[in-house]
Amino acid sequence: MSNQDNSHDPPYHVAIVGSGPSGFYAAEALLRSDLDVRVSMIERLPTPYGLVRSGVAPDHPKLKQSILVYDKIARHENFNFLGNVELGRDVSIADLQATHHAVVLACGAHADRRMDIPGEDLEGSHTATEFVGWYNGHPDYRDKKFDLSQEVAVVVGQGNVAADVVRILAKPVDELRHTDITEHALEALAQSKIREIHILGRRGPAQAKFTAKELRELGSITNTNASVNAQECVLNDQSKIELEAKTNTNAVKNLETFRGFAEQDTSVGRREIKFRFCLSPIALKGQERVQEILLARNRLEGPAFSQVAQSTDETETISCGLVFRSIGYRSVPLPGLPFDFSSGVLSNIEGRVVDGDQPLRGLYVTGWLKRGANGIIGTNRADSIETIKNLRADICDLTIETMPGIHGLLSILKESDVKKVTFSDWQKIDSAEIERGTAKGKPREKFTRIDEMLDQLDR
Ligand SMILES: Cc1cc2nc3c(=O)[nH]c(=O)nc-3n(C[C@H](O)[C@H](O)[C@H](O)COP(=O)(O)OP(=O)(O)OC[C@H]3O[C@@H](n4cnc5c(N)ncnc54)[C@H](O)[C@@H]3O)c2cc1C
Ligand SMILES: NC(=O)c1ccc[n+]([C@@H]2O[C@H](COP(=O)([O-])OP(=O)(O)OC[C@H]3O[C@@H](n4cnc5c(N)ncnc54)[C@H](OP(=O)(O)O)[C@@H]3O)[C@@H](O)[C@H]2O)c1
Repeated sequence: MSNQDNSHDPPYHVAIVGSGPSGFYAAEALLRSDLDVRVSMIERLPTPYGLVRSGVAPDHPKLKQSILVYDKIARHENFNFLGNVELGRDVSIADLQATHHAVVLACGAHADRRMDIPGEDLEGSHTATEFVGWYNGHPDYRDKKFDLSQEVAVVVGQGNVAADVVRILAKPVDELRHTDITEHALEALAQSKIREIHILGRRGPAQAKFTAKELRELGSITNTNASVNAQECVLNDQSKIELEAKTNTNAVKNLETFRGFAEQDTSVGRREIKFRFCLSPIALKGQERVQEILLARNRLEGPAFSQVAQSTDETETISCGLVFRSIGYRSVPLPGLPFDFSSGVLSNIEGRVVDGDQPLRGLYVTGWLKRGANGIIGTNRADSIETIKNLRADICDLTIETMPGIHGLLSILKESDVKKVTFSDWQKIDSAEIERGTAKGKPREKFTRIDEMLDQLDR
């Protein structure tokens, strides 16, 4: 924890809940503002950085470089980090409001969406959330098991998370050995028998949500072919209109890539990634575990840019032993706070938490909890700047009482047996992970259990 002096004239104290990109960008905006402000950031895990640590794929290390920025923010003298402290478990909103002038909720969206079809919970049917959390060493998922002795996997959804899942399933394990992927995932992937991965879009190739670079990467995996059903690449008139729009260059690039895949020789690779379009799962079937996925063919209906998948009577079955649904993340309601179930976000207007249209005094939200599970790391910066701009505008009207800030929070936590993790504690965990990794030629070997992380603090 930084040495902060709370004895001089009353500064504003702001609590931020969650240490992912949106939480850190909110801290940055506060600390760069004209306010005399102290930031207390709480995080449920002993480790900071949210999905930058537990979501971004291990073979994309450059995308984790935003951590360098967060690290700098964390060293600011008016910033305090308290890891292993969970809102709802160790502290309440009331505790945070009793000790801080304002609270910014930046808890992300860690739940998954469901397909709501029969058989969805059969053995062998998983969420991308679980798989990603498992290979990235998130303590909540480290004990999940994936039967990689299966030969055929189906990934539902065509966004960048699906691309990550497919890449990790398809890549030769030797190309992952020097990444920060967890040891348990490496061991399991080394035994993988997967040879065919179907990646399903409910809409067409022009509507796939992959960014162009991520899609192209799926076509250049060692010993792996990418294939497309050419017939499914035929566009309807509305999709052609979509592709003509100047702002839709990503879709144009994706279509070129798909057409390239359609021409690839698929007889050479050890593994095959099969892109399929206009297909929606309607049931998972199997005795005890998934053995097949039943799909309905869709046709697209509606105007350009609002086309929706409408199922037809035509069906198809793929025999498979693993299914990963990668159809988006969703936020979960926070106790006592208004939640907009239709958009899956904390009810808010430009970052002010609202009940109906009434702002709730001193309560703010940012990141995936504010706008839904979309956007890349950088998107959260502008989002947090907007929230903090509104907090800044309101703060003079908030209570002028002196607040104890982090010290008040520490007094509340003293009464429980929570083992708090300060930023310098995290740096110990970080150094130990890096040291473990160096021995194996990896950037780090993550601790994947909370007690292992906390054990580092007693050394
Ligand atoms: C699998 C995956 C891969 C991705 N890869 C990339 C990529 O390569 N490049 C890119 O630009 N973007 C990527 N993204 C998107 C990017 O990660 C998000 O835009 C970003 O992480 C959202 O930030 P956030 O702060 O809102 O949420 P998060 O990053 O999820 O952070 C939320 C934090 O809040 C904490 N928290 C939750 N509840 C509580 C609580 N009750 N009390 C205390 N703390 C709590 C969580 O533990 C977490 O640390 C990826 C997303 C996913 C899902
Ligand atoms: N490398 C990177 O930069 C990177 C890596 C990972 C994630 N991210 C970002 O993180 C965010 C989240 O990614 P994401 O992949 O989880 O979400 P996403 O981009 O929203 O993709 C979700 C996919 O699921 C499909 N889908 C949704 N509901 C469905 C249903 N009921 N049945 C079948 N398909 C369904 C969507 O199809 P429709 O289009 O038809 O809705 C879409 O293809 C994105 O902004 C992404 O760019 C970035």
